[in-house]
Amino acid sequence: MARRAAPPALPRAVPVRPGRTGSARGEARGPITLRRATIADLPVLVRHRRGMWEEIGGRTARDLDRADGVYRRWARREMAGGKFLGLLAVDPIGRAAASGVLWIAPAHPRPGRFARLTTPTIMSMYTDPAFRRLGLASRIVTWMVAWARARGYARIYLNASTMGRPVYAKLGFVSGNEMRLDLQAPRGRRSVAAGTGRRRR
Ligand SMILES: CC(C)(COP(=O)(O)OP(=O)(O)OC[C@H]1O[C@@H](n2cnc3c(N)ncnc32)[C@H](O)[C@@H]1OP(=O)(O)O)[C@@H](O)C(=O)NCCC(=O)NCCS
Repeated sequence: MARRAAPPALPRAVPVRPGRTGSARGEARGPITLRRATIADLPVLVRHRRGMWEEIGGRTARDLDRADGVYRRWARREMAGGKFLGLLAVDPIGRAAASGVLWIAPAHPRPGRFARLTTPTIMSMYTDPAFRRLGLASRIVTWMVAWARARGYARIYLNASTMGRPVYAKLGFVSGNEMRLDLQAPRGRRSVAAGTGRRRR
C-alpha cells in the first residue's frame, strides 16, 4: 500500500509574467490565484470542458449540449466521492481564467509499483483564450503532479490534444504504448483513413 502524505499546499497567488498580460479583453490585471474547485464551481468546469471540446473540434453543437448535462452529473457524483479534484485559476475579481481536473480513475491490478487500483488522470484542461501563455495550465498540472506524488502514485495519465501536447511535454510527460481501435466512423463519414481518428479524452 502506498504511503499517504499531506497534500501539497496550493500556491495562494500565481504571479502573471509582466508583458504577457495584454489581450483584446485586457484581462489578468492582477495576481491569479489557484484554488480547489467546489460543487459551486461546476458551471465553470462544465463551460471550460465544453470550450475544450469546441477547440478540439469535430463535435456538433447538439453533441456538446448533450455532453454538458452528462458531464455535470458525472462530475458532481465523482466530486462527492472524492475522485474528482478540480483546480481553478481565478483573477482578482473572481473570473475563471483556467481550470483542470485530476480524476482518480479506477485501474486494474498490475504487479509492482503500479499495483494500486486507482490511477490519477488529468482531464478537462482549459485556459480562457485571454489568459493563455501565462503558465496557468502548467501551474495546474504541476500541482496535480505534486498531489499524486505526495500520495505515492507511480504514474499520472492523460490524453493530450494538439494544443495541450507542448504543455505536458515541457513538464516531462511522454507518450506511452496505448493502442486503440475505433469501432464507429465519425458522423458524416463513411470511412476513416488510418491514423485520422480522434483520441479519446
Ligand atoms: C492547452 C491549453 C490548456 C494551454 O493553456 P495555457 O495556460 O496557455 O498553457 P501554459 O501557459 O501553461 O503553456 C506552457 C507552455 O506550453 C507551450 N504551449 C502552450 N500553448 C501552446 C501553443 N498553443 N502552441 C505551442 N506551445 C504552446 C509553451 O511552451 C508554453 O510556454 P511559453 O508560453 O513559456 O512558451 C490551452 O491552450 C487551451 O485551453 N487549449 C484548448 C483546449 C485544449 O486543447 N486543452 C487541452 C486538452 S488535453
